[in-house]
Amino acid sequence: MEREMVIVLDFGGQYNQLIARRVRECNVYCEVHPYNISMEKIKELQPKGIIFTGGPNSVYGEDSAVCGKEIFELGIPILGICYGSQLIAHLLGGSVTTAPVSEYGRTEVKVNTAAVLFQGVSETTVCWMSHTDYIEKAPEGFRITAHTPVCPVAGMECPEKGLYAVQFHPEVMHTVEGMTMLRNFVMDICGCSGSWKMDSFVETTIRTIREKVGNGKVLCALSGGVDSSVAAVLLAKAVGRQLTCVFVDHGLLRKNEGDEVEAVFGPEGPYDLNFIRVNAQERFYGRLAGITEPEQKRKIIGEEFIRVFEEEAKKIGAVDFLVQGTIYPDVIESGLGKSATIKSHHNVGGLPDYVDFKEIIEPLRMLFKDEVRKAGLELGIPAHLVFRQPFPGPGLGIRIIGEVTEEKVHIVQDADFIYREEIAKAGIDKALGQYFAALTNMRSVGVMGDERTYDYAIALRAVCTSDFMTADCAEIPWEVLSKAANRIVNEVKGVNRVLYDCTSKPPGTIEFE
Ligand code: XMP
Repeated sequence: MEREMVIVLDFGGQYNQLIARRVRECNVYCEVHPYNISMEKIKELQPKGIIFTGGPNSVYGEDSAVCGKEIFELGIPILGICYGSQLIAHLLGGSVTTAPVSEYGRTEVKVNTAAVLFQGVSETTVCWMSHTDYIEKAPEGFRITAHTPVCPVAGMECPEKGLYAVQFHPEVMHTVEGMTMLRNFVMDICGCSGSWKMDSFVETTIRTIREKVGNGKVLCALSGGVDSSVAAVLLAKAVGRQLTCVFVDHGLLRKNEGDEVEAVFGPEGPYDLNFIRVNAQERFYGRLAGITEPEQKRKIIGEEFIRVFEEEAKKIGAVDFLVQGTIYPDVIESGLGKSATIKSHHNVGGLPDYVDFKEIIEPLRMLFKDEVRKAGLELGIPAHLVFRQPFPGPGLGIRIIGEVTEEKVHIVQDADFIYREEIAKAGIDKALGQYFAALTNMRSVGVMGDERTYDYAIALRAVCTSDFMTADCAEIPWEVLSKAANRIVNEVKGVNRVLYDCTSKPPGTIEFE
């Protein structure tokens, strides 16, 4: 891969990895680094541009994330976003303070289209704002390039020093012309040519893995999700029978999913690898009995997964390498900067290395999800697997509100199966980012066949999103919803009511817990 690189300095905002992804969409390689990266390291990386991200703090706060002013002397163009823009203003003598009116969500911004950053952008353009502080006064030498009625400096620039800043978030989809702005920065301001390509990724990676592994034994934790499946197939192509895949069925999978994974990766499937399925349902239900707090449930599932996996690894013995399906967002989420923890994500690949492995292999470590999918297709993995909707590591455990029991797992599995079937029949599955049924812990009164019922309510959810960081609630056609609701109440024992969740993210999250 050619290294014409832009780096993103992470000040702890929620959308940081999106910025890197958008830069890569311009065919320019991009990495995220912590905000306190040393100047020496930056010089070593030789980036053609630097982007400062948003962040949760105030630039004038006590423990705010601040980089050294020397960065402005490196002669590398810098774009500051949200907190990043305020930091540029603050460090260079402008004034940042609490805004009299915070702006949040879609906002009309007036931009100066003569500024290079806004070339080809409409004079009034819809941008995504999320700030309580604002730049009251730009530093000397800066020109104001964008404003809103309540934000006097929504954009500023000092092209002589290669410094650019925007208060809004060009990286999120809701900023309608954000991609044009980022492209202007990366191509026209930083002078990148956009020649970075993924084509040779699979070939190069297989070769590197072969060299690294030699005759060693390799173990892979397979969840059946896109990331671990692509990682497993890459390894299978590279080292064949030296690889053993361990698939832990924690009893929190979707209906039939365990068997589907086994059909692809087991002895009847197309790949030449060793496959072990561990049916650990009872063990997980036992550990989850009586637990209702979401974070505690997540931690228990994550921990138990590791224990089971560890036991299997010991049985196999003398394994040199552990494969993980870690992808770039996982790397970034596991804490480069100062992002607030919204949920502790448990990726099934997130195993510790205390099972005594020589080395961990993470072949997808530098790829985003869409890039992983491209690699999957290149490897010949069936499209229906490659384009599966994401499924969280803790599985149905976080789609059952309150205590998890085997009975509740069956209820949510059956309801979810019907919902997915109706969505597929209606042909709307490809237009949805994610859709599923969850089991609320609410029971209510109903009437069925002249009998009073007192049963659970199922919640149906569907969202449109491509980045999963923000999501709009999907408008499912009424006929589809009512058909699914009817079938669920009629066919799933223990359910007498179906609700549709019409919350977007934010303020909701996609999963219920
Ligand atoms: P939230 O609920 O945070 O979910 O809006 C965003 C996306 O992440 C998935 N998700 C997880 N994936 N381990 C995972 O591998 C997890 O613990 C986890 N929690 C949420 C969720 O399904 C959605 O796609």
